[in-house]
Amino acid sequence: MSEPVLMVDVRNVRKTFRIGFFRKRVEAVRGVSFSVEKGEIYGLLGPNGAGKTTTLKTMMGLISADGGSIQLLGKDASSHRSRENIGYLPEHAYFHEYLTPVELLDFYGKLYGMSQKSIRDKQSALLEKVGLTDAAKRPLKKFSKGMLQRVGLAQALLADPELLILDEPMSGLDPIGRKFVADLIVELNRSGKTILFSSHILSDVERLCSRVAILRKGEKVAEGRLEDLLKHDDGTEETLESLFVRKAMEETPAN
Ligand SMILES: Nc1ncnc2c1ncn2[C@@H]1O[C@H](COP(=O)(O)OP(=O)(O)OP(=O)(O)O)[C@@H](O)[C@H]1O
Ligand SMILES: [Mg+2]
Repeated sequence: MSEPVLMVDVRNVRKTFRIGFFRKRVEAVRGVSFSVEKGEIYGLLGPNGAGKTTTLKTMMGLISADGGSIQLLGKDASSHRSRENIGYLPEHAYFHEYLTPVELLDFYGKLYGMSQKSIRDKQSALLEKVGLTDAAKRPLKKFSKGMLQRVGLAQALLADPELLILDEPMSGLDPIGRKFVADLIVELNRSGKTILFSSHILSDVERLCSRVAILRKGEKVAEGRLEDLLKHDDGTEETLESLFVRKAMEETPAN
């Protein structure tokens, strides 16, 4: 069998923040390693403050890691070329509220170095894909949370990237919005895209992901194929929720 192609290879990444007047240390990520193969849907799980967003931001070069190495699509993440083929949905997207989705996609398209023609060609299909055709020319300040999440997804998909990194794509959405995003993730994956996403919505993770990693206090405490993690050698089975709670409360990391 040929070696799997690694789209993401994160090794021993560390990040410590210093906060406040006394420069108190917050060890947000403490030696996290994981890799995502081409064609996978990979879930990054962990309780609030576990280090998921920090890990994803270091991968996107939005904050610098203190140590470790990150390869994206076979290139070192310190080179901006490694991110050419990646779409990123931040946890909190701050879009200019007076822009419409059409204007926002124009703006990001130019930022991605796309020609006006290719932006125009993609725009309407993309807005249709995320269900925003009717609101295409409405300013974002009139958008609901779910609609903004859809704009964020359209932005992440604009340059037709091979790898999507989505930080809580279903957060704050109603059940219909969640199903919409989950179905979109499946469709994108079927069309060949590799997807790494963080989430707290374990039912969606269970439905979508082939493999997951669970972080706790900046360390990886579990990783593997969902079916392997949830089925034990003695024949018993566990739900993802039970595994999550157990691992999130465990003391010793299994890195
Ligand atoms: N810019 C920052 N300055 C200082 N501390 C930070 C900063 N960003 C994150 N942290 C700290 O790093 C730790 C990890 O935060 P992070 O946002 O990565 O967690 P998370 O797993 O994404 O949590 P959530 O599920 O709530 O989104 C937390 O203790 C957080 O307070
Ligand atoms: Mg987060």
